[in-house]
Amino acid sequence: MSAYRIISLSSSVRSVKNWLIKKNNAFHSQTIQDIINVNCHSVTMMTRLVLPGMVERRRGVIVNNASASSIYPLPLLSVYSATKAYVDFFSRALDQEYKSKGVVIQSLMPFFVSTKMSRLRANMFIPTATNYVKSALGTIGLQARTFGCISHAVQEWAYTRIPQWLRETLAMRVMCKARRSLLNKEHSRIFRSE
Ligand SMILES: NC(=O)c1ccc[n+]([C@@H]2O[C@H](COP(=O)([O-])OP(=O)(O)OC[C@H]3O[C@@H](n4cnc5c(N)ncnc54)[C@H](OP(=O)(O)O)[C@@H]3O)[C@@H](O)[C@H]2O)c1
Repeated sequence: MSAYRIISLSSSVRSVKNWLIKKNNAFHSQTIQDIINVNCHSVTMMTRLVLPGMVERRRGVIVNNASASSIYPLPLLSVYSATKAYVDFFSRALDQEYKSKGVVIQSLMPFFVSTKMSRLRANMFIPTATNYVKSALGTIGLQARTFGCISHAVQEWAYTRIPQWLRETLAMRVMCKARRSLLNKEHSRIFRSE
């Protein structure tokens, strides 16, 4: 390969990289807004909308979908994780305020569930959405804060027994691997479409 071709190849790799960085920056600011809107803003405003009617009838149930990542912060998903902590705290505080008025506000904290979002295959620890919901519905009125199913409660039990430094190291490794695989897919998609 001549020197000229090497230089032109490295400059085109650089320009693809720069383009990806620019694209990712634009993507990130919109995504951050979306995550905050979906997890904080909409949960708060929806609750505000339905709560007065429930109080008037002295009966009602609100189940807010937090996540196990609201207890164990997920590196590389920091905004998601932090907004889920908001959902959990918001639900727990409101439950204290409204339980005497006949309204149940539950904070649901799933670990992984096999869904369109997680793109994970179901197994012993990753229930299908249908099975997870069936199980979680059975906890309403019994638990104000729940992992929703037995396999997730077992995961929580195991998590609390792992030292924090090990838990954090493992979480970082798993998330780095997931990010690498996503970026590789994105790169090959871009190069295929060029
Ligand atoms: N899956 C997991 O492992 C897991 C773990 C912990 C917590 N959670 C939480 O569980 C909840 C449900 O997640 P999922 O895994 O079931 O995801 P999912 O399969 O992608 O379902 C998300 C649902 O939200 C709807 N949606 C997305 N953006 C919306 C928007 N801007 N306005 C209105 N609706 C919107 C989607 O509608 P369309 O079908 O029309 O797209 C879909 O019905 C989320 O809050 C997630 O954070 C999931």
